[in-house]
Amino acid sequence: MKFMFLSAADKAEAWREAILAKFPGAGFDIWPDEIADKASYDYAIVWRPPVGELKTFPNLKGILSLGAGVDGILSDTELPEGVPVVRLVDRCLTEGMSEYVLYWVIHYHRRMGVYLNWTRNGTWKQMRQTDTRDKKVGFLGLGELGSDAARKVAALGFDVAGWSRTEKHIDGITSFHGKDGLVPFLNRTEILIVLLPLTEATRGIVNKETLAALPEGADIINCARGAHVVDEDLLAALDGGHINAATLDVFHSEPLPADHPYWTHPKVTVTPHMASLTVPSSAVEWMEENVRLIEAGKAPLNTVDVKKGY
Ligand SMILES: NC(=O)c1ccc[n+]([C@@H]2O[C@H](COP(=O)([O-])OP(=O)(O)OC[C@H]3O[C@@H](n4cnc5c(N)ncnc54)[C@H](OP(=O)(O)O)[C@@H]3O)[C@@H](O)[C@H]2O)c1
Repeated sequence: MKFMFLSAADKAEAWREAILAKFPGAGFDIWPDEIADKASYDYAIVWRPPVGELKTFPNLKGILSLGAGVDGILSDTELPEGVPVVRLVDRCLTEGMSEYVLYWVIHYHRRMGVYLNWTRNGTWKQMRQTDTRDKKVGFLGLGELGSDAARKVAALGFDVAGWSRTEKHIDGITSFHGKDGLVPFLNRTEILIVLLPLTEATRGIVNKETLAALPEGADIINCARGAHVVDEDLLAALDGGHINAATLDVFHSEPLPADHPYWTHPKVTVTPHMASLTVPSSAVEWMEENVRLIEAGKAPLNTVDVKKGY
């Protein structure tokens, strides 16, 4: 069995070690330098492949994504037909994302940014503390990542809701779905977390209209994709005061360009697309399971629906 590895963002040697531990004797070649006979590869392990590259490997049985989001694979308009694209679903990735979300939800709920600014300047001052049960947190996206984070935020006592394409029944989470559910969901959301896949239906979903539907003083955490947000609309809403603050992990262009206003905006916190990173020693378990399923002639888990875009 032979794997080809293509990613500018992941540590290839860590993956080589992890894959060869699971598949002793397998081939593992790193694109482009180690690739020789393209017809000899069974699996492509990839993150943002160049358009048209994967179709030049004629015998692939599976395209295994190094991340949960597959927009960077589906943007290849020439993907080989009939080869399943399998997205990453992994315990470590899910737990890492929930940690990131919990951290920032608590940060905004307890107004830690304001307190840290005060104490750094030698100011001793207290604000009225509010009841956690009255704080309404909302998740755009209740999939693998959104539902885990939503459950954990709810376990702390917050009043949690989520919005998805199809209706969900999750204990302790109020479910909104579809186009009609979006505005009622936003109307009640004081801390908004974006955990949607990037598709044609979700691109630019955080815009002038949806921001206006949030209550005055809402906070935003975007840990999905930069293109979910219309930057000018968010900056206008922050400057106008309707939105209190935003934590942004993902951007239209990454690394975030040096002259982008987000870097210095007093109400914006930038993190470098680290909300949850893939840990090879854990994610390889999922890869092994899917390769074994494909080798046994069965359908892999978490196959992407190319038409839906996620
Ligand atoms: N910043 C980071 O470090 C980082 C790390 C990992 C992932 N991510 C991002 O997180 C995203 C979510 O990952 P995931 O594993 O949770 O994805 P997932 O399991 O596929 O869940 C996606 C959720 O979004 C909902 N959704 C999709 N299209 C929708 C639409 N048009 N309207 C309403 N709801 C819609 C889905 O609804 P249904 O359940 O009804 O289908 C589902 O609840 C990834 O795509 C990736 O971009 C970021």
